Amino acid sequence: MQYKTINIATMLLLLFVSAIASASSRDVEDEDRMLNAKCIGCHYNVTPGIVKQHLDSPMANAHNQEDEVVCHDCHGEGHTTNTDYSKAEMPTADVCGECHKKQFKQYRSGKHNLAWMAQKTQIAWHNQPKSIVGQGYRGCSGCHKLGKKGLLGVSQGNMDAELKYDGGKEESEYRYGNAQCDACHTRHTFRKDEANDPRACSNCHMGFDHPQWEMFTSSKHGVIWGIENQGGDTDGRAPTCQTCHMVDGNHNVSTPWGFLGLRIPTKDNVLALIDVAPSLKEPLTKLAALLPTGHFDDLDDNPQWTFDRAIILQAAGILDASLQPTKRFVEIVVQGRAARGPDEFNKLRRDMKKTCNECHSNQYVNDFFKASDDTIQQADHRFAQAIQAVQGLYRDGILQKPEGWEYAPDLLQYYDAKTNIEQELYLIMLEYRQRTFQGAFHASNDYMHWYGWAPLNTAVNNILEEAGQLRAEHEAKNSH
Ligand code: HEC
Ligand code: HEC
Ligand code: HEC
Ligand code: HEC
Ligand code: HEC
Ligand code: HEC
Ligand code: HEC
Ligand code: HEC
Repeated sequence: MQYKTINIATMLLLLFVSAIASASSRDVEDEDRMLNAKCIGCHYNVTPGIVKQHLDSPMANAHNQEDEVVCHDCHGEGHTTNTDYSKAEMPTADVCGECHKKQFKQYRSGKHNLAWMAQKTQIAWHNQPKSIVGQGYRGCSGCHKLGKKGLLGVSQGNMDAELKYDGGKEESEYRYGNAQCDACHTRHTFRKDEANDPRACSNCHMGFDHPQWEMFTSSKHGVIWGIENQGGDTDGRAPTCQTCHMVDGNHNVSTPWGFLGLRIPTKDNVLALIDVAPSLKEPLTKLAALLPTGHFDDLDDNPQWTFDRAIILQAAGILDASLQPTKRFVEIVVQGRAARGPDEFNKLRRDMKKTCNECHSNQYVNDFFKASDDTIQQADHRFAQAIQAVQGLYRDGILQKPEGWEYAPDLLQYYDAKTNIEQELYLIMLEYRQRTFQGAFHASNDYMHWYGWAPLNTAVNNILEEAGQLRAEHEAKNSH
């Protein structure tokens, strides 16, 4: 669809003329038009770019003229002069939702809606300057503002499985950045074709711990997308982010493995561990009682993998020293939905395969997923070895738990970790392991291997060596 550029002077003239011409019959609509003409008339000088973008937008050129969206539909009627602009309202996603119920509902039930809450579950988040994690939007908060503010989890004293809402308190503390929907449909054109272009995802899904943009553009899918200038065309030869993650325009985004490549173990997974580690029978039985039943369709559930995953969860403070779920388990896994149980995992996986099957055979796709799942298993095993080495240093008093830390090692301290060896551990968690499996799933061989698996192994080997050295130094010191 093409929208013609509207001559602003003509537009204004038309608005005034039509307002005066039909003054008696349609009062409400006319008041609307008058007010809109006022906003536009003044903002034509104050913020000409915004006026132009708005007038060119699909919403200002609605198919049915009576549906035309005007400035004060989103900003309210409180501000009309050069000085009272602090009375202009800034829309939240709920304002968009009044007219776009379907997308709004899907969005609310998906992962994007949880993005604001998710950043707060991280221990490191609490130690950073507000400009980075709060009002300034210059770091974590800049990307995570596409989540809804005011969702209350364990950190705010809510121990229920469901998040609670503060009724708008947190949103009211932020003048800007509550609109959520403008992450992909940027203001003031709010276009569908912009959001359908994979570049619309790239400002957030890039870089250190989630380079999906780089992985996509270095996969054959992305290469074809580039060569064929596909842009936001969803019927092209190459699948885009949206083809795979927003099927039929569904605004509820969620993947089986999620950001961290984790999943909730089943009862059977955990009970099977008892055969391998009989001494842990009691805590494992206790843990199993809390877990879902079922089976992960595609996955190899050998006890070694369950064990490796338990070690990782322990190092993230999600399971405690005796393998029981902590408050972080409730906040990150249950409320923040960072990992899925078998039912949800299997359904999401089936849907994803169906999408691949539009262009590839069943067999081809099954092979692909089997190999990609396996990369997580392999990475987890090496990661767990490194974690155990560091856990051993704490257990034997070679490293001391830093003041104020609840767990040590603690992966969620990120770059605030106090020792070199734990800095390496953090890089494995957020950079190398992520790239290993995310690269595999996005068919980017270079990311999977040279930016993922290779440095992961280097880091594990370094950690094992350094742990040995720290031990030797400790013993040498103690023998004097
Ligand atoms: C007489 C001029 C005038 C009129 C009429 C006017 N505005 Fe403004 N508006 C301004 C000025 C001046 C600013 C401040 C611009 C700045 O900070 O650079 C502003 C700012 C804004 C802001 C941004 C506020 C912020 O905190 O960033 C919004 C939104 C806005 N106007 C919407 C509207 C809407 C909607 C209408 C009509 C209902 C309207 N304006 C009518 C002059 C006007
Ligand atoms: C008062 C009702 C109303 C509000 C509020 C509203 N919209 Fe719309 N929107 C519409 C209508 C009507 C259309 C269809 C225009 C047409 O006929 O093409 C539309 C179309 C759209 C489209 C599709 C544009 C395209 O390229 O075809 C997007 C995207 C969109 N709106 C996003 C938003 C966002 C984001 C917000 C909140 C910031 C919002 N809308 C608020 C009424 C509204
Ligand atoms: C460049 C944008 C960007 C920045 C900066 C950023 N994030 Fe994220 N974050 C993302 C994206 C995109 C995802 C989803 C990635 C994925 O699923 O692979 C994400 C995912 C997460 C998740 C996982 C949520 C879940 O349920 O799986 C957490 C937690 C998180 N980020 C916390 C933070 C914290 C804390 C900071 C700052 C220290 C931060 N992020 C900085 C973009 C960003
Ligand atoms: C469909 C809803 C919608 C319409 C219509 C709309 N805006 Fe906005 N506007 C927004 C959103 C969303 C933001 C971003 C708010 C935030 O960051 O919290 C915004 C922000 C602004 C800002 C401040 C941010 C900036 O970039 O400077 C100004 C000024 C503004 N709008 C003016 C206008 C004017 C003038 C019109 C009419 C010509 C208009 N808006 C029409 C949704 C809308
Ligand atoms: C993650 C990016 C993203 C965010 C955030 C997002 N959208 Fe969309 N939106 C899309 C994509 C992609 C499409 C195109 C879907 C299609 O082609 O069917 C779309 C399409 C739309 C359409 C047009 C539907 C149609 O069939 O014409 C509307 C309306 C819309 N979105 C509203 C919203 C609202 C309201 C929000 C906030 C609750 C929102 N979007 C947030 C990506 C996004
Ligand atoms: C050919 C389909 C396809 C394309 C294109 C695609 N993805 Fe993915 N994406 C996947 C698959 C498959 C997974 C892993 C699913 C699972 O967990 O089983 C995934 C996982 C993800 C995840 C979760 C973390 C991870 O990386 O494993 C995010 C976030 C994501 N993709 C975003 C994107 C973005 C953004 C783009 C575009 C730059 C994109 N994807 C392009 C298929 C695709
Ligand atoms: C403003 C930044 C931003 C933009 C733009 C954005 N995302 Fe996200 N995305 C995030 C963050 C942050 C998360 C993590 C939210 C959480 O899990 O709590 C996320 C999560 C996801 C997930 C869920 C991964 C999981 O854990 O299962 C998918 C899939 C995804 N995004 C796809 C997309 C696609 C496709 C687009 C573009 C159409 C897009 N995103 C645009 C920031 C963004
Ligand atoms: C819209 C069509 C389409 C969809 C959907 C699609 N692909 Fe592809 N895929 C292609 C095309 C075209 C190629 C390049 C030609 C070829 O190698 O078959 C390709 C190539 C590949 C390759 C080979 C890459 C290489 O480097 O050799 C893999 C692996 C792959 N796709 C996996 C997937 C998976 C997994 C999914 C679903 C998550 C998927 N594709 C979804 C069209 C698609």
